[in-house]
Amino acid sequence: MEKKTFYITTPIYYPSGNPHIGHSYCTVASDAIARYKRMQGYDVMFLTGTDEHGLKIEQKAEAEGITPKQYVDRISKVFQNLWKLLNISNDRFIRTTDDYHVKAVQKIFRQLHDQGDIYKGKYEGWYCTPCESFWTENQLKDGKCPDCGREVKWAEEEAYFFKLSKYADRLLQYYQDHPKFIQPESRKNEMIAFINQGLQDLCVSRTSFTWGIPVDFDPKHVVYVWLDALTNYITALGYGSDDDSAYRKYWPADVHFVGKEIVRFHTIIWPAMLMALDLPLPKQVYGHGWLLFGDGTKMSKSKGNVVDPYILCERYGVDAIRYFLLREIPFGSDGVFTNEALISRINADLANDLGNLLSRTTAMVQKYFDGKIPAQRESSDPDGELEKMGNELRAKCNQNIDGYQFSKALEEIWRFIARTNKYIDETTPWALGKEESKKDRLACVMAHLCESLRIVSILIKPFMPETAPKIQEQLGISGDQCSYESAAKFGEFPSDVTVQKGDTLFPRIDVDKEIEELNKLIPNPAAQQKPKIEGLAQITIDDFQKVELRAAKIVNCEHIKRAKKLLKLTLDDGEKGRTVCSGIAPWYQPEDLIGKTIVLVANLKPAKLCGVESQGMLLAADAGDEVKVVFLDGVPAGSRIR
Ligand code: ME8
Ligand code: MG
Repeated sequence: MEKKTFYITTPIYYPSGNPHIGHSYCTVASDAIARYKRMQGYDVMFLTGTDEHGLKIEQKAEAEGITPKQYVDRISKVFQNLWKLLNISNDRFIRTTDDYHVKAVQKIFRQLHDQGDIYKGKYEGWYCTPCESFWTENQLKDGKCPDCGREVKWAEEEAYFFKLSKYADRLLQYYQDHPKFIQPESRKNEMIAFINQGLQDLCVSRTSFTWGIPVDFDPKHVVYVWLDALTNYITALGYGSDDDSAYRKYWPADVHFVGKEIVRFHTIIWPAMLMALDLPLPKQVYGHGWLLFGDGTKMSKSKGNVVDPYILCERYGVDAIRYFLLREIPFGSDGVFTNEALISRINADLANDLGNLLSRTTAMVQKYFDGKIPAQRESSDPDGELEKMGNELRAKCNQNIDGYQFSKALEEIWRFIARTNKYIDETTPWALGKEESKKDRLACVMAHLCESLRIVSILIKPFMPETAPKIQEQLGISGDQCSYESAAKFGEFPSDVTVQKGDTLFPRIDVDKEIEELNKLIPNPAAQQKPKIEGLAQITIDDFQKVELRAAKIVNCEHIKRAKKLLKLTLDDGEKGRTVCSGIAPWYQPEDLIGKTIVLVANLKPAKLCGVESQGMLLAADAGDEVKVVFLDGVPAGSRIR
């Protein structure tokens, strides 16, 4: 019989900056489900990728002086490497710059146009550049972008539109007929309210930038990102290409995991597009919550307050991070990420509860039985309770996994671990070990401990893929003894395997010392949020006007031999040439700078730096650990800045 299929996706992330722990969160959650379903025997397709077009990417690349393709090639690789590090088992990785995707999007666009679902019109509206979203006057919050709170600007252009409004009733009907389509429940009500406000047709092409998929029959237009992005879920399976066998096998998706801020795109725009294409709709869209910092701000690339997943994995191991993300925050809710919470979970749940159970158990089996538990065993009182819990554990996990309740599934497993630890206290094996007559009882106790750990090791594997085999190795089990099927039964731990004490799974962390170390490594968001300027004395406009700021063009630039950090810049300030020394050598090469225009503090008293007279200084920003020079675009040398 053919296996049942299961298709799960993450959002395709914008490679507009390096991935942070927020992206890791959704990807790890998807991975745990993909692994769990594979373990249950499903034929799984697990897709992730990068969403590489749009104005923001174009601008980022330009700021670095490279092409958008070079830019996304680099950052997409960073995402892919991080997923490798985090043991993400995705079956495919789509980049929206991939040729097959580009072709399929063009085909879809043309089809929708030919059948009248896409038409040409004019776009006017308030545009938020970072979010790449147009907003109506009503949607703005205090005149700013309702999603990110930043400035919007009025924009107008010829554009193609998708007839979203036409699908309002069918969408509402679909929600009603498929009550599980939008999860969690609360998000469904938001979507219904949004549709009831009235849906506007959706702008699906732009002419104001070029970094996008060209509309092939009207090439001054590029496909505007959401049509390009959302279709990835089918193009990745070959829809619209010569080989669409994977599409036919796996579509419709069982679930799209997405952050709550893009549920709207996935439950209104995406289904409407699919309806227009006459394709089946995904079975479910699950909108998970946000990881927040202690002060309640959302982590994001654009705010710079990120927690670096590389640093965390390096210090605690990948499985500890995976465990923390899935255990700490109920999927669907927002949750606060703090270093303290992470370390305390590692110490309490991983080092203590699980790690100690394993090390005590293996040490005792070695000490009392040289690693092999005799088959002659005598059962007694608390055994039944432990066995019952063990027999029920897999079903409890499954039930929670079916609702994507990772934290509850893990809670069940840890409840069982706690019960097993308590079983040691109740049975006092150290006392049994002192009496030869209690040997059969001791064998039974040891077998129960090992059997608990065996079941635990199987069920935690999708969450902690490195830890599970380590436990199994120490228990000496393999093959069927580690199968999902065998996790349904608390059985007789085999007498012919050798239990061996191995390395500590999770070393205990000294909290105070570690927090101190971490704070040095990871920018402390609370400190970063507080504007440092607060404490400075105020100045009057007259004070400010004493400073003469002027645009100046860098005509030459070279290193200064005696000073590693300094660059010597020759500037055209509109009147004369002048020399300025600047401590930016760690961040810039002379060739990065020549030809650029900077902001010059023109009336600074000259000063000698390493033998060179510096006649002024240039403005630069402290951007995290880096220094970034303030460059001007299209401003002639000599222009006064005020
Ligand atoms: O929206 N907490 O890409 P994106 C939890 N390209 N999850 C977070 C998070 C946080 N602080 N920050 C990001 C896009 N995420 C589009 C998607 S899909 C067809 C196109 C996760 O790079 C979360 O899953 O902004 C969120 O939805 C996603 O990253 C957004 O990534
Ligand atoms: Mg985003």
